[in-house]
Amino acid sequence: MTDQIHDRLLIIDFGSQVTQLIARRLRELDVYCEIHPYQNVDASLIQDMAPKAVILSGGPDSVTREGSPRAPDALFDMGIPVLGICYGQQVMMQQLGGLVEGGKISGGGGTAEFGRAFVTPEGQLNLLDGWFGDGKEQVWMSHGDHVSKLAPGFEVYGTSPNAPYAITADTSRNFYAVQFHPEVHHTPKGAKLYENFVRLAGFTGDWTMGAYREEAVQRIREQVGDKKVICALSGGVDSSVAAALIHEAVGDQLTCVFVDHGLLRKNEAEEVVGMFRDHMNLQVIHADETELFLGELEGQSDPETKRKIIGRLFIDVFQKYADQIEGAEFLAQGTLYPDVIESVSFSGGPSVTIKSHHNVGGLPEKMGLKLVEPLRELFKDEVRALGRELGLPDHFIGRHPFPGPGLAIRCPGEITRAKLDILREADAVYIDQIRKHGLYDEIWQAFCAILPVRTVGVMGDGRTYDYACALRAVTSVDGMTADYYPFSHDFLGETATRIINEVPGINRVTYDITSKPPGTIEWE
Ligand code: XMP
Repeated sequence: MTDQIHDRLLIIDFGSQVTQLIARRLRELDVYCEIHPYQNVDASLIQDMAPKAVILSGGPDSVTREGSPRAPDALFDMGIPVLGICYGQQVMMQQLGGLVEGGKISGGGGTAEFGRAFVTPEGQLNLLDGWFGDGKEQVWMSHGDHVSKLAPGFEVYGTSPNAPYAITADTSRNFYAVQFHPEVHHTPKGAKLYENFVRLAGFTGDWTMGAYREEAVQRIREQVGDKKVICALSGGVDSSVAAALIHEAVGDQLTCVFVDHGLLRKNEAEEVVGMFRDHMNLQVIHADETELFLGELEGQSDPETKRKIIGRLFIDVFQKYADQIEGAEFLAQGTLYPDVIESVSFSGGPSVTIKSHHNVGGLPEKMGLKLVEPLRELFKDEVRALGRELGLPDHFIGRHPFPGPGLAIRCPGEITRAKLDILREADAVYIDQIRKHGLYDEIWQAFCAILPVRTVGVMGDGRTYDYACALRAVTSVDGMTADYYPFSHDFLGETATRIINEVPGINRVTYDITSKPPGTIEWE
């Protein structure tokens, strides 16, 4: 939790799939908010945090079930404005003396409802200022239970055909409750409801990147004092922004280690090291350990074995260089808010490991270092905004994600230096094409993979027997699901011709049109 500098809003999470979207909508309004799972929220947490308002999220449970989640009763006596959403609405009604029933009931009282619905207004409510367009508004419903009797003090301000209590409020206590989900895309004007709610709760919109930067710098100085910090700089957005911010706070007390495993893209090491060392004046150690990594990877073709080798060597190498920095007490990490939020798990049980991503998570315990994590409160797009604020160039901040094991997992089968060289060239031509056609920012991630197969071709009058490569480009929001990018045939034809003409060793180009699921984004 941060110091008491900003107005804050508490979101009590009852386990909805879309709780994070509520936080996104609020952050877009320059409102600072924190999500806490309902199990962790009691009266003292609320008193300590002193939120200006509370939102109760949706959730999969039924308030009619004994032992189902509740908000602390004390919340409703604290004089704080509360907005309940879907399950949150039902929790409010139940706890404040109303009634919630499950399933379909006869007589038009209310019923389970999933998907698009239209709400019509009843009377005037400040929460709805500027909301209803032409007498009705589209919303997204997703509920099995429904409120069948309002709690004392509440009145109805909006109804839908299946939810007579779609929008209700007790204006004397600033309690608001909606049956639908204003945070999702399919409630097109949902953001307006949040805007009205935070306005009536007295928020001033004081959560800006400029203010955050100043406070973060101050906090880092207090935490680190005159001690040294080390940072594993990967060139990705998160570690880059973390490094730039910590450098602004403590200058040369920060040393970055850029581990070069020889699996980077064309000119990547030079670009990253050049930018941070030469343009931003950070102390950067370029740990060129290509020989070590490629030596151990030689002859390995199993994807998980490749990842494990790279992960293990990465930690060894980082530790070796960090040991040379005398007196280092802190390790900087670019941990983001979505990694920090404790999710409410109803399913239980471990999920299946599809790929064992490596990161520097195991480092602090091993090295006895304390963590500096200045991005812990930020979402990805806020990190980008902070990066811009700190003067990192736009083309750098907008870069597609790049996996830790690098080109190793874009070279299915055995890794050889020759194949890596060919892959680097083909990838560079492909990305150049995407940039030239102005498509880079429309695509979430694009890259080339070199396939473990050689095919026959004809160039000039000669026969060729060279590698085939696959182009991959996907759209996605978070990498969890993805769809292939629909390039035009002209673009694909032009790109294939360029790669085959400009990259010796490739004589065939294919385009991967698999979505995720069932595919994954990377080929390994
Ligand atoms: P997949 O292939 O699982 O990729 O659909 C989803 C996202 O994760 C990246 N990725 C990795 N990142 N270490 C990483 O740091 C890994 O081992 C790894 N494997 C995949 C991938 O590039 C995509 O952005």
